[in-house]
Amino acid sequence: MNSPFSRIGVVGAGAMGRGIVQLYAQCGHAVVLYDAHEPAVDAAIAHLRDTFGKLAEKGRITPEQAAAAMGHIAPAASLQDFAGCDLIIEAIVERLDVKREMFIALEEIVGPDCVLASNTSSLSITAIAAACEHPGRVAGYHFFNPVPLMKVVEVVQGPRTASAVVDRLVELSRIAGHTPVVCQDTPGFIVNHAGRGFGPESLRVLHEGVAEVPVVDRLLREQVDIGGQGFKLGPFELMDLTGLDISHPVMESIYHQYYEEPRYKPSVIGAQRVAAGMYGRKTGEGFYRHAGGAQQTPAEPPTPALPAGLRVWVAPGGMRDAVRELVSGLGAALDDGTAPAADSLILVTPMGLDASTAAQGLDATRVVALDTLFPFGLRACKRRAIMTTPATLAAVREAAHALFAADGAKVGVLRDSAGFVAQRVVAMIVAIGCDIAQQRVASPADIDVAVRLGLGYPMGPLAMGDAIGPRRIVEILAGMHRVTGEPRYRPGLWLQRRAQLGLSLLHED
Ligand SMILES: NC(=O)c1ccc[n+]([C@@H]2O[C@H](COP(=O)([O-])OP(=O)(O)OC[C@H]3O[C@@H](n4cnc5c(N)ncnc54)[C@H](O)[C@@H]3O)[C@@H](O)[C@H]2O)c1
Repeated sequence: MNSPFSRIGVVGAGAMGRGIVQLYAQCGHAVVLYDAHEPAVDAAIAHLRDTFGKLAEKGRITPEQAAAAMGHIAPAASLQDFAGCDLIIEAIVERLDVKREMFIALEEIVGPDCVLASNTSSLSITAIAAACEHPGRVAGYHFFNPVPLMKVVEVVQGPRTASAVVDRLVELSRIAGHTPVVCQDTPGFIVNHAGRGFGPESLRVLHEGVAEVPVVDRLLREQVDIGGQGFKLGPFELMDLTGLDISHPVMESIYHQYYEEPRYKPSVIGAQRVAAGMYGRKTGEGFYRHAGGAQQTPAEPPTPALPAGLRVWVAPGGMRDAVRELVSGLGAALDDGTAPAADSLILVTPMGLDASTAAQGLDATRVVALDTLFPFGLRACKRRAIMTTPATLAAVREAAHALFAADGAKVGVLRDSAGFVAQRVVAMIVAIGCDIAQQRVASPADIDVAVRLGLGYPMGPLAMGDAIGPRRIVEILAGMHRVTGEPRYRPGLWLQRRAQLGLSLLHED
């Protein structure tokens, strides 16, 4: 092994420190582990022995490899034991003052060429480095939990970080089988910044009273279909798993660090639930109840009966022919008039607009909107989304629900919302990904890799926007912006220019 580092010190023996020690001991590096709370080091080493033992039992590594990995790990009784290290990775408490003190202390112990890296998720690498005599040696090295399984790491470059330091950390990550992504020191780096679309926009949907929690989760898991894949977990399921005590402060911190950029605005619902101690699975109650670690998901509402003789008029729009084909395939009669007949259900298919706007000039009591952004054809989707205007009659809503479930698809029923649920959440993910690219935080390719591996999305935000079409994303955002007047939805420059010129969102200039 030709590693850029020969002896690695890890400070902090918690969840992240343990994972980092495992990663590097397993690929043959000498690792020294220190924690201010002495029993934490012993507990971590016992935990690692157990982990390597289990990996050997399962046949993932040989017993000899397990023994060798343990042989590479040494406990440190004090920070002085880091004297011979050429890299220190800090994974202590997430507090700037404590991290700065640690880096000052480390500089007094280690040699002038030793690299000092912080695993911070939310603090400024620049502010940590500013405390140091040699800020050029300081970089961010942001792993994800659990470290051995989350195979991506952000190598964060502050304005004074030496390029050689970044290069060495990149090389070290590759040796461990992790994918390094290089990014500039900006709030949230890539992954926690790009993650401001999914959860926060879904909270906003909830805040507007568009739908209940399980409806939103089901739509994002089952309606979204990008290259055959959706999101593995709904946003509220994910927040319950992570714990709102962790995710809400991240939302607040990124919002404030970007000087109250409206795109990242957190929700009062999050703040209130944190205050109530409803963190999610760890407290037994979050957006769902949890019993014995299992989420209790309310049953899907029953599908109403399809009224006999239902006639549907499909309003003009891009997908009109496909929607008419679906309606007729589902068993309703088509109203072919140039205007809807007096008793027809009126179907609109807005992009970025709400049903009320799409119902202008029509009888809103009979208007229902169908989301056509993702596959919606006959027996071609798991779930469809429909929404109503505030004036839509309940009987009309129920007839549409029954109709769109007639081929066995599930239906998510929403109150009026500019962009339904899926359009607005996906468009926000793309918009934020584009903003990150515009700010040159990282290369477009690295942004997408980081998000796919770090957040488990089916595609990175830029490839996602390309798959849907940059012009379509602009149309959705512009529609949402127009209806709501919210600057959070304005299409950004990276996106607009590429849409105008017919370029890929991954196109770098
Ligand atoms: N947990 C995650 O999902 C995650 C993901 C990425 C990054 N991070 C970041 O990694 C760091 C550690 O997170 P964690 O989840 O492992 O925390 P943790 O609470 O599990 O462990 C932190 C450890 O640091 C020790 N410690 C605290 N102050 C210390 C000091 N001054 N000197 C030496 N040891 C000290 C504590 O005793 C504890 O054992 C934080 O900066 C966090 O933001 C966490």
